[in-house]
Amino acid sequence: MTNKVTKAIFPVAGLGTRFLPATKSIPKEIMTLVDRPLIQYAIDEARAAGIEEFIFVTSRGKGSLEDYFDRAPILEEDLKAKGKDELLDILNATNMPSGAIAYVRQAKALGLGHAIYCASRLVGDEPFAVILPDDVIASEGKSCLQQMVEAYEETGGSMVACMEVPENKASAYGILDVDSEEGRLAKVKAMVEKPAPGTQPSNLAVIGRYILTPDVLKNLGGFKKGAGGEIQLTDAIADEITQGRNVHGYRFDGTRYDCGSKAGYLQATVAFGLERPELRDELMVFLQDVVGVKMAAE
Ligand code: UTP
Repeated sequence: MTNKVTKAIFPVAGLGTRFLPATKSIPKEIMTLVDRPLIQYAIDEARAAGIEEFIFVTSRGKGSLEDYFDRAPILEEDLKAKGKDELLDILNATNMPSGAIAYVRQAKALGLGHAIYCASRLVGDEPFAVILPDDVIASEGKSCLQQMVEAYEETGGSMVACMEVPENKASAYGILDVDSEEGRLAKVKAMVEKPAPGTQPSNLAVIGRYILTPDVLKNLGGFKKGAGGEIQLTDAIADEITQGRNVHGYRFDGTRYDCGSKAGYLQATVAFGLERPELRDELMVFLQDVVGVKMAAE
């Protein structure tokens, strides 16, 4: 089997309850960091890593996500007529080639593992990437997935992005039990999803980027329920190890923002705003003022 990764799954069928009431009518993935929806960052990262086929696992109420990647002829005409070329370029950069995106539905939010399983037939018999759009990873050089794709060419098997998290946060993540480490790679001997506080085998947590073999899809086909009564992707990857196949953790170079949580989303908004030359100075002055006033009052 080739180690070339050309397909990526974007699971976007979750209910996004942590962002209610907004997510009553807006998919979480369409929420913006400055002016770009979370899903755009995920797509750009995938393209930079050489992904050619984009598979979305969606659900009821996610129509605006599908529209987002379509051409917008009326808007295009209008910008063209008004000579707004810069905006036209920004708009055109979001277009995806016809046929590059496929959508499958997850009828019920039974868990991330189940969402991935829903894409089985579109993936076929080759390794594939998974990107969770609410984990946004900023990097100075190569994107997180690109780093992983390059490492994967050597390792094969399955690979998960990982980073260290504070001990008291470990129970919110999939946690790795590591055999040995070399450079950025950690050879995994077991994985546990959302360990009870104090029982975690390490503080190395799985972050939302994966490169997986089709065997993981077979494992998911067992529809085994795990933590929280959900069909967990972590469990299906852990089964790979017991079945004698390789799983590696990859300590990526970059800063990860948990945009599935309100605190992480706000932090990302500030960080990405400060990266924009046209916003930086004004935002900096505002932040200094507002933080100064808050600190003086406390
Ligand atoms: P989360 O655990 O963040 O769940 O899912 P959620 O529903 O999006 O958000 P909260 O916790 O209710 O606020 C992680 C990723 O897995 C997808 C989500 O869309 C998100 O990208 N997912 C989760 C599915 O596609 N289907 C599921 O059944 C569960």
